[in-house]
Amino acid sequence: MNRYYITTPLYYVNSKPHIGHSYTQIVCDTATRFYKQVKGVEAFFMTGTDEHGEKIEEAAIKAGFKQGEEKKFVDTIVPLFKKAWEGLGIEYDHFIRTTDKVHEETVKKVLSVLHEKGEIEKRVYKGWFCTPCEAFWSEAQVAGNLCPDCKRPVDRLDEENYFFKTSKYQAVLLKHIKDNPSFLYPEIRRNEVVSFLEKNELQDLCISRPKTRMNWGIEIPFDKNFVTYVWFDALINYIAGIGYTDDRKRFDSIWPGARHFIGKDILRHHAIYWPIMLMALGEKPPEQVLVHGWWVMAGEKMSKSKGNVIDPMEMVSKYGVEAFRYYLLSAVQFGYDGTFSEKLFVEKYNADLANDLGNLISRTLSMVDKYYSGNVPENPKPAEDGLTILARELPAKVAKDFAGVDSSAALKDVLQVTNAANKYIEDKAPWKLAKTDKDALASVMYNLIEVIGIIAVVLCPFMPKTSESIWRQLGMTSDVSSVKFSTPERKDDLWAIIPSGSKINKSTPMFPRIET
Ligand code: MSP
Repeated sequence: MNRYYITTPLYYVNSKPHIGHSYTQIVCDTATRFYKQVKGVEAFFMTGTDEHGEKIEEAAIKAGFKQGEEKKFVDTIVPLFKKAWEGLGIEYDHFIRTTDKVHEETVKKVLSVLHEKGEIEKRVYKGWFCTPCEAFWSEAQVAGNLCPDCKRPVDRLDEENYFFKTSKYQAVLLKHIKDNPSFLYPEIRRNEVVSFLEKNELQDLCISRPKTRMNWGIEIPFDKNFVTYVWFDALINYIAGIGYTDDRKRFDSIWPGARHFIGKDILRHHAIYWPIMLMALGEKPPEQVLVHGWWVMAGEKMSKSKGNVIDPMEMVSKYGVEAFRYYLLSAVQFGYDGTFSEKLFVEKYNADLANDLGNLISRTLSMVDKYYSGNVPENPKPAEDGLTILARELPAKVAKDFAGVDSSAALKDVLQVTNAANKYIEDKAPWKLAKTDKDALASVMYNLIEVIGIIAVVLCPFMPKTSESIWRQLGMTSDVSSVKFSTPERKDDLWAIIPSGSKINKSTPMFPRIET
């Protein structure tokens, strides 16, 4: 069975989650639901938190904890992430923390194995370090003592450290990327990595910090004076959480389907260092790394350190989780940057959810209530309208678009059918047919209900609660997420999914207009 293993990056716990993090969570949650419902495959979804390193140590001190009490500090932050993911309807299978025993043991095991294989050696490190980015920079990369990425001051380092010999794997990694075009997605990121590997010589990776300077990390198993560099530690979560050291059989059944979803700022860690670490261990690189863009505000990346973050939970409590999921999934194509502002959010909500989707459901169900006392009528005519044809094609279209993780295209497909259905109501004017042509009225109402049924099914991975609510309003008692919809390989037709006679349960309007 083709099993999918979906991962998010592990979020630093130096403060609470923001919209950028929420986006990865929502995309991964949608992808997991999609793989299960549409492809009918097993999927394992893992997320978690990155809890070691200088940046976290600094945050702990700032929050009033003493050195040595970092674990107490991270224990106060992790629940904020778990609560946020619950609020966003994220159904992960496992939450891994880099302070988990199994993770720490796996990191130590990996270090010991690589050390024994001669892949790690001790040398003097001379260069620069940026704490907010947890990144090492060479002399040539740093201009005016500022980090080339975040432009904040860097620290000078001149100390003994352990190095992982990445450079000898450069050619084999490049070959792997060239031989496996789908390994890095989208193509722009693949090209970026290929060009980097073709133009630069990889520097061996410094993977330790002397305890004299930084204590908060996993001790290097062969030298107790050092802890592990946080990135080397964190990447190992992807194998630690699925049994690499404690259940090899389980690991072997999950790892081949690994799909890492990440933001573009952590591309090199995932596309270069991580596959090389795996190669050095004698393991296969992940199946795919999928790279999304940034959410920006007024042209700047939203980030904790810049202080321009929007609290996702505030948006959720104001506008509801489904509207929030809809905005993040529809407003930007996977891989590109997106602008977040409350104004844009409200505009899109009113246009797509209140005026189009909410309105379609509300007016259709009101008419079924009014003309048929809430019972879906029989269709006295064959279904052959333009609208029904469009709706019958919708599941395959959504499946095709989301196969490329393009949630915005998939949701546009749904909106197109929603708009066509609203137009159909205007054109057919059921309120006139009610007086002149009972058969035509029954046919129009039946068609609209079927179209809404199809919309409910295809929305399920993206907006699970909306999908379920529509499903229940249509009188369905089954589990909507178990309705398989067609894929290019499997052309099931969802027409007639809502039986005639089904009893409508109209709820309060789903997406009431937001007055600005
Ligand atoms: N801890 C590392 C990841 C280790 S994975 C083994 C890390 N953490 S982070 O909290 O700084 O970022 C986590 C993810 O959030 C990254 O994929 C990053 O790209 C993403 N985002 C952070 N800010 C973002 C936006 N403004 N917009 C979209 N995603 C962004 O890096």
